[in-house]
This record gives sequence, C-alpha cells and structure tokens, in this order.
Amino acid sequence: MNVNNLIVFFVLALACAASNVNAEAFFVFGDSLVDNGNNNYLVTTARADMPPYGIDYPSHLATGRFSNGLNIPDLISEKMGWEPIMPCLHPNLTGNKLLNGANFASAGVGILNDTGFQFVNMIRIYDQLSYFQQYQKNVKALIGEGPTEKLINGSLVLITLGGNDFVNNYYLIPFSLRSLQFTLKAYVAFLIVEYKKILQRLYELGARRVLVTGTGPIGCTPAELAMHSTTGECAEELQFAASLFNPQLVRMLDQLNKEIGSDVFVAVNTNEMHMDYFTNPQAFGFTESKTACCGQGPYNGFGLCTMLSNICDNRDEYVFWDPFHPSEMANRLIVQQIFNGSRTYMYPKNLNTIMALDSRG
Ligand SMILES: *[C@@H]1O[C@H](CO)[C@@H](O)[C@H](O)[C@H]1NC(C)=O
Ligand SMILES: *[C@@H]1O[C@H](CO)[C@@H](O)[C@H](O)[C@H]1NC(C)=O
Ligand SMILES: *[C@@H]1O[C@H](CO)[C@@H](O)[C@H](O)[C@H]1NC(C)=O
Ligand SMILES: *[C@@H]1O[C@H](CO)[C@@H](O)[C@H](O)[C@H]1NC(C)=O
Repeated sequence: MNVNNLIVFFVLALACAASNVNAEAFFVFGDSLVDNGNNNYLVTTARADMPPYGIDYPSHLATGRFSNGLNIPDLISEKMGWEPIMPCLHPNLTGNKLLNGANFASAGVGILNDTGFQFVNMIRIYDQLSYFQQYQKNVKALIGEGPTEKLINGSLVLITLGGNDFVNNYYLIPFSLRSLQFTLKAYVAFLIVEYKKILQRLYELGARRVLVTGTGPIGCTPAELAMHSTTGECAEELQFAASLFNPQLVRMLDQLNKEIGSDVFVAVNTNEMHMDYFTNPQAFGFTESKTACCGQGPYNGFGLCTMLSNICDNRDEYVFWDPFHPSEMANRLIVQQIFNGSRTYMYPKNLNTIMALDSRG
C-alpha cells in the first residue's frame, strides 16, 4: 500500500466509523419476555433453546426466545428498520456489531435479587447493568469516548421486569419468605422503591429514552388459569397484585422524570393491552385468549412447552404461545401500541411521538 492509498484507506475507515455512530442503538434489559438467547449460555432451567420454540422464527430454530417466533425487541427493531440486536453473551457480538446495541435480558430475573433463585443461574438485573457498563468500555475502545456517549444517549432502551417478582417469588409457594416478610401492599411498595434505584442506575449509565413495561395480567396466564380457574376467570390475588403494581409504577416514573427534568422514562401499559386481547380476542383476530398454543393439562397451562406438548396449528390466533409467554402475534400488537398507542397505553407519549420530537430537536 503506498502512502496515498493509505490515506484514502484511513479516510474511508473514518467515514464508515462516523456513519456507524449515527446509527441508532437499541438496548434491552429484563426477563424472559425480552430475553433473546442469553440464557442459552448459562446453566439454568429457564431456557427456550429446544423446539417447538422458534417454530415460526425466520430460521425455524429455537434461539432462546420465549416465543413461537419473534419477540417484542425483535419487532421493535423490525419496525425501526434496524437489525435484530444480539444477546450480550453471544460470542459474535464484537466489532462493529456492538454499535447496533445489545440485549442483556435473562429469563427468570426480577427487580429483586432473590427472585427466580430456583432457576439457579441468571444474569440478575444488577449484573445486566454491569454488563452494560462493560459493553460501554468495549465500544469506547472501538470508537472513542465522545462517540460512545453519543451512541448511548441517542439510543432506545427497553426494560421489562416485575412479573417474576410475583410469580417466581412472592407467590411461588405458599408462605414464601417474601410473603411472610411483607403484606402484598408493602411488598409492592418495596418493589417500586427497588425498581426506582435500578432505573436511576440506568440513567447514570447514560440511558435517555427508556421504555418501561408494567406487568401483564399475571393472573390470566394459562399457567395461572390451570392452577386456579374453573370457569376461565383470572386468578384474583395475582390480578390484584398487578392492579397495585402497575399504577404505582407509572407514578414512580412520573416522579423520576420530574426529578430529572425530562421525560426519559415512558410507561408501557402491557396490562391494559393484554386485557384487551383477553376480554375481546375476536376484535384483534384471536380465537383463543385463555389456552396456550403449546402445553398440556387445563388451558395447556401445566408444565413446559416441549415437543411432547399439544401444539396448535393456527398460532396467530392464540394470545399465548406457552403457559406464560405471548405469541408472536400478540407481541406484534403490543409493539404496534408501543409505537402508536394513546396515553392510556403509552404514558406520557408513544414511540412515534418521541421519535418525531427527537428528530426536530
Ligand atoms: C458467528 O460467527 C461464526 C464465525 O464467523 C459464524 O460461522 C456463525 O454463523 C455466526 N453466528 C451467528 C449467529 O451470527
Ligand atoms: C441486589 O444486588 C446488588 C448488587 O449485586 C446490590 O447493590 C443491591 O443492594 C441488592 N438489592 C437488594 C434489595 O438487596
Ligand atoms: C448526548 O451526548 C452528546 C455527546 O456527548 C452531547 O453533546 C449531548 O448533549 C448529549 N445529549 C443528551 C440529551 O444528554
Ligand atoms: C395510530 O392510532 C390512531 C388512533 O390512536 C389511529 O387512528 C391510527 O390508525 C393508528 N395508526 C397506525 C399506523 O396504526
């Protein structure tokens, strides 16, 4: 290579680096609703790396997503026109791929460190945040400090936590440690205080546009119907827990935004979205909102979804893919609302509005 070619090479390399930096990055934190394969790399029972998971995924392979096909992060990426982001533990997440963002979520985790202990290994939420910090160091080594900061503060963040703190902690067994320690009201208040600390840490780490989902209707999943329901009614106690938690989450986010002086955190009302499909499935093209597509027993709500389970053919007509997780179609409708929902669903504003404001600013 002579000197001129060398200069051309460097100019091109710089131009590429610069244009990459302008690309929007996407970061995901949370539990199995948004994990896209991190738990495949862990010794844990909370994993979705065997068929029929992934039966409708483009490769038709089980990737670790708890879905028949795409999950919520995939569908947000798709709508944004971005490549799907990779799990942070994936060995190929290096070099320029880092600039698309990363998914730090891990099935089984909750707001609390003791949630999901029965799954043995998980990336608990504070470990997800540590990985995010390490990720930023790696990106700084690649593109430098300023561009990294810009990449992070221009990025979109999604965090999904809370369901497991009820299902896989407080209500996991009768007389669980947490239920002996706290009344439900006090437990919810404790969760909100702890969640606020997590979100403050996320803000300190540079996040400036953060979608925070509430819990879904945790008493209406096929797993809970199988245990508690005779006529298809939702499990009352868990529904009551969700009805306490979700509004308090919205108020906490509001408070946090006031403290920061900017609407960094956006509440995604997944509970309301799911209840719409649950109570009026036909209006959304579903024929089945109570029974899981894949499972066994009443409502297909018992045990795991495996090749030995009942598996439905018309998966797009089911709200639930397995006893706990929505189908790709339900995820699609949720993502549609994330972009375009009214203030009942997206508070204080939906993603389309946020992007329109940011592109003007
Ligand atoms: C990871 O990289 C290896 C080697 O380049 C490649 O063979 C493999 O297909 C990649 N896997 C994914 C999921 O990108
Ligand atoms: C959870 O663990 C982190 C460190 O891993 C710690 O900073 C935090 O205080 C713990 N939270 C609770 C409620 O114990
Ligand atoms: C984002 O980072 C860039 C570069 O450091 C800075 O100029 C800009 O003010 C930051 N924006 C916000 C909203 O923090
Ligand atoms: C967005 O929502 C409005 C009403 O809230 C509706 O009229 C419009 O059709 C929606 N657009 C899309 C693309 O879904």
